[in-house]
Amino acid sequence: MGQDEGKDFNRFPKGADPAHLWGAGSEKDWMVIAQISDTHILARSSEQAVGAARAENLRRCIADINRGGVDVVVHTGDSVHHGMAEEYAHLREILADLEAPLFLIPGNRDRHGALRVAFDHLSYLPRNGDFLHYAVEDQPIRLVALDSVAAGERKGVFCARRLAWLEETLAREPDRPTILFIHHPPFDIARHYVGGYRRPEDARKLAAVVSRHPQIERLLCGHVHRLHRESWGGTVATTMPSVAVDLRKGVDKAIEAAPLYLLHVASGEDGLVSHTRVVTH
Ligand SMILES: [Fe+2]
Repeated sequence: MGQDEGKDFNRFPKGADPAHLWGAGSEKDWMVIAQISDTHILARSSEQAVGAARAENLRRCIADINRGGVDVVVHTGDSVHHGMAEEYAHLREILADLEAPLFLIPGNRDRHGALRVAFDHLSYLPRNGDFLHYAVEDQPIRLVALDSVAAGERKGVFCARRLAWLEETLAREPDRPTILFIHHPPFDIARHYVGGYRRPEDARKLAAVVSRHPQIERLLCGHVHRLHRESWGGTVATTMPSVAVDLRKGVDKAIEAAPLYLLHVASGEDGLVSHTRVVTH
């Protein structure tokens, strides 16, 4: 899609609903972003039973996404469990079935070097430097991916260099609807998740940058493995359950075996509406 069409985001009509996405091929006039997160894939050679289960969880989500209607897929981190090359090889093999473009950010379980090697075909990932963050410009909604990971650190980090990059990136396109995605949520979730950034001021600085850029329609996060929605930094922030079923939290036992992912559906009149997609087949 060209840049002019991208700016015409407001033409999307009312009533975009993912229930229609898998109907008989009607003309599509909205943008759909599928979000997957925390897949925690193990090496194919792993003898742990969860290894095969997690691979299957992701495969089922991909098969469902491939049914059609999804424009892009974002993966909000912790793609593999130990950051090992064999795990990334397994992940890449599974993701090869995905038909829509994939945009990946690291989580604390990822390792930048191994991720870069395994996904060297993804041209948007910076080849060099300390961070794996980037902006996607050729979609109706601009996607900005911020790297919150520091080597050897479980918690999120938002340092001066990341702050400068984010400020500059957001200031470049103040009028384009934007979705920001970051692995670590920069807010607490009751007793479930407290102090997720190494320094409390990191999260406050991040909120200050985001609140200065009202074009940010949504912040999408992973890391906490549970569904949550928060009013934060002048926008709406959401987290999602892990695709790895054995690690997710707060999901009803009735759908124990079914992996799930999120669909964020954008239309000009309705804004951005998020849906949970439970994969029962
Ligand atoms: Fe995780």
